[in-house]
Amino acid sequence: MKKLLSVVSAVLFTLGGQVLAQSNTVIVNADQGELTISEHIYGQFSEHLGRGIYEGIWVGPDAEIPNQDGYRTDVLNALKELEIPNIRWPGGCFADEYNWRDGIGPRADRPKRINTHWGGVVEDNSFGTHEFLRFAELIGAEPYISANVGSGSPAEMNNWIEYMTYGGDSELANLRRENGRDEPWKIKFFGIGNESWGCGGTMTADFYANQYRLFQTFAKNYSDNRLFKIASGSNDVEYDWTETLMREAAQEMDAISLHYYTIPGQGWSDKGPSTDFGEEMYYRGIKAGLLLDEFITRHKTVMDRYDPGKNVVLALDEWGIWTNPLEGTNPGFLEQQNSIRDALIAALSLDIMNSHADRVKLANIAQTVNVLQAMVLTDGSKMLLTPTYHVFNMYKVHHNATLLPGYANIERYTTDWDKPVVSRFDLKLDEPGIPVISHTVSMDEDGKIHLTVSNLHPNDTQEVTFEIRGATVNKILQGSAKLLTGNSVDAINTFDNPEQVKPKAFRDAEFKNGKLTLKIPKHSLVVIGLE
Ligand code: AHR
Repeated sequence: MKKLLSVVSAVLFTLGGQVLAQSNTVIVNADQGELTISEHIYGQFSEHLGRGIYEGIWVGPDAEIPNQDGYRTDVLNALKELEIPNIRWPGGCFADEYNWRDGIGPRADRPKRINTHWGGVVEDNSFGTHEFLRFAELIGAEPYISANVGSGSPAEMNNWIEYMTYGGDSELANLRRENGRDEPWKIKFFGIGNESWGCGGTMTADFYANQYRLFQTFAKNYSDNRLFKIASGSNDVEYDWTETLMREAAQEMDAISLHYYTIPGQGWSDKGPSTDFGEEMYYRGIKAGLLLDEFITRHKTVMDRYDPGKNVVLALDEWGIWTNPLEGTNPGFLEQQNSIRDALIAALSLDIMNSHADRVKLANIAQTVNVLQAMVLTDGSKMLLTPTYHVFNMYKVHHNATLLPGYANIERYTTDWDKPVVSRFDLKLDEPGIPVISHTVSMDEDGKIHLTVSNLHPNDTQEVTFEIRGATVNKILQGSAKLLTGNSVDAINTFDNPEQVKPKAFRDAEFKNGKLTLKIPKHSLVVIGLE
């Protein structure tokens, strides 16, 4: 069928003497949707790293920056708007050195520790369990707690869970009450270690599999709380790690994680700039972003061998573009700008995850504020929304919607830069170029269809036609069509000019006889609804 469609859509047809090639076409089978796009794919990640939490989220109740009980009001409001389903904390690498007892009780009495991973700065622990869980409540997100396996013990982890979730009369539950929280919190997402092959303990897969089995035994369900246990998974191509964990511990886990960072530059030692990078770095960034599809596909293949019923979720609990740090910043703070390229990498990564909705049901972009691919950046009392923020806002239409399957015939754009992006990867993704269009189509519970469609071409407008079959929609939802673009591939928002890249109304859309035709400007994203 796929082959036939390629042939059909490649056929040239004549219109008024002109020969046109209808090259970007997508057939959508609106009556064949079976998978739900979990809203939890749209999760966030906030680590004790640089200005991510301190200054970015938490300024303390006495700060001059307007705040609600210590949380910056501007950031709270911006994040609420995104309807963030879950947020991961306290790390990352930080998690495997974190002792939860440091972050409870009167703030003035909390110990000062050294954040050895991130810049060697002093961590005063003023943002701890209560502050994080209140923050999650304020933005309406479910907490995702990452527990310390690397330097902690099963008993410490178990005590933390009891402290947070036990509703009865125990010493730890009463300590929580003394510290101001009567009702237990509900904690569902619970990570057992982070990058245990690296900063989380430099473990082998076999060793970690045993550690995982041990720790998860003591990750108890107190009162009516039910933990969703996430094993620390692999980095991009480490398929053996997934294999070992699935073989040894699939029965004991709800999810296994996968981390993939998109690096546009040469590799970890030179990741490429986040500003003023031009077309080559744009192309390389997009190309590197596309690798996610292969990683997910191959990890899924391994998982299918041990879990054909798809009970174990693949959790992309760290992903996003990682560039060189901004000049003049502490390199341990991982501060970078955020351009329209990065927004498109977010869009295509989300499209890829949506397309794997059978396994990928949890993901966390790194990281929410001021770190890596952030939603918002702050500078003292100023705050700006990044292009990536707008992507997450535009993609809200897919939260818990049904993924609509179909067949796509999309042109590819090739350049002289088309060589392997990162040589250490043994990748099968050797097709030259990049597809010019990336998309997700979903149907919400009211039967409305939403499309998010990116034109990844750096120079040319693209026309794309979606033929909607099997649905009764007949018009464009009023006010739904929006476009996100920038003047160049490296367009950014700055504190002097914070609204260069922001969504505006999109008009180049026509819906006739079940066919939606969009003319999308270069390096842009469109969201549109049909009813
Ligand atoms: O997100 C930054 C770091 O990247 C995390 O702490 C770690 O898990 C990963 O290597």
